[in-house]
Amino acid sequence: MSKTKVAVIFGSRSAEHDVSIVTAIASIIKPLELSAIYEPVPVYIDKQGRWFSHPRLKDIALYTTGQIDDFLSKQKPLLLQMGGGMKITWPGIKPKSVKLGAVFPATHGTHGEDGELAGTLEMANVPYVGCDMPSSVIAMDKALAKTIASYEGIPTPKYVWFYSRDFMGDNDSVLTKLSGLTYPLFVKPVHLGSSIAISKVNSAKELINAIEVAAHYDDKIIVEEAINNLIEVTVPIMGNASPKAALVEQPILNSDNVFDFESKYIRQGKKGGAKSSESAQGYSKLPADLPKELYAAAEELAIKTYKAIGCSGIARVDLLIDSKTKKVYFNEINPMPGSLYAHNWKKSGLSNLKLAENLIDLALERFKAKQKLTTTFKTTYLKQY
Ligand SMILES: Nc1ncnc2c1ncn2[C@@H]1O[C@H](COP(=O)(O)OP(=O)(O)OP(=O)(O)O)[C@@H](O)[C@H]1O
Ligand SMILES: [Mg+2]
Repeated sequence: MSKTKVAVIFGSRSAEHDVSIVTAIASIIKPLELSAIYEPVPVYIDKQGRWFSHPRLKDIALYTTGQIDDFLSKQKPLLLQMGGGMKITWPGIKPKSVKLGAVFPATHGTHGEDGELAGTLEMANVPYVGCDMPSSVIAMDKALAKTIASYEGIPTPKYVWFYSRDFMGDNDSVLTKLSGLTYPLFVKPVHLGSSIAISKVNSAKELINAIEVAAHYDDKIIVEEAINNLIEVTVPIMGNASPKAALVEQPILNSDNVFDFESKYIRQGKKGGAKSSESAQGYSKLPADLPKELYAAAEELAIKTYKAIGCSGIARVDLLIDSKTKKVYFNEINPMPGSLYAHNWKKSGLSNLKLAENLIDLALERFKAKQKLTTTFKTTYLKQY
């Protein structure tokens, strides 16, 4: 029996472009090359948004040596065909086409993880791994995710959100809205990650400056109360109807207690790190060093949040714990965890191959269930014309 072709899509127009290359190659493509049932087909979206596929795109050295631009200049972008599944075509005198059995998105951040890719794949009616479009859109908006979570009874730090233009237009009315919050406060652009343009502030003056900074990066801003006596944990979750957690993991914070891009990706951090997943554990406690009840509470809250946001396939839920009050709060949810958080799943007993295969199985299961839904409805509407 021939193997099911699975396009692993990575790169794209995102600040996390390079992280996505590592996720795709190290955690998905390489393990799947050993699969007896699935065959990975690399699909690389370059920084301009062009789609390419070639066996050489599976080679990490192509990117690390900077040869990628030269290589792509000799390649023709793919043609995509959608409807009743997805077909990719290599153009040329003798064009070659492949019908995909499934798609494995491995993009992080904008133009991918944010729901745009899921929406495209949904339109194409092809099975795909990971969160669907609505859950991705919610997850990638810190204000929307907190609003939905708190509506479902999930504790979050007390927060207020507003549009950047409202602050620019009427500074005072936004500050009045924020006056119910107690310092110290965190100011965050709602759509960004990697701690970009995030500030911790202690006074009204700092608050205004921080909002102005955040407004340069995003059209929507969230301001929230800081959780004291902080323990941060992150919980990878997998599944459709009955999601299961991997190990609760506790990243080691840097000196000012805020994660930054450097500590996350360069020095190996909680995103899973930019190099081997094992070394990511050097910067986290796995499993987290928490009293039994608190560990169970974190696991439970993470699964509850995953369900409330409507996630499927995989996601990673970040929680903030006040170690004095023992209260657990939802911070954010990532629809495509860096490197799939494979190091954590491995420690939970799942090999890289099994992890990737299970995720494709879940994609096929969700697709099958969705095909059963009725999408047609016979009417006499057109008869009146
Ligand atoms: N309400 C809060 N109370 C205490 N610390 C917080 C709070 N919000 C954020 N932090 C700290 O700031 C860090 C960055 O915040 P957050 O996770 O919201 O941003 P991010 O840029 O989306 O990060 P990521 O790279 O995980 O996507 C957190 O990991 C945590 O250390
Ligand atoms: Mg975070």
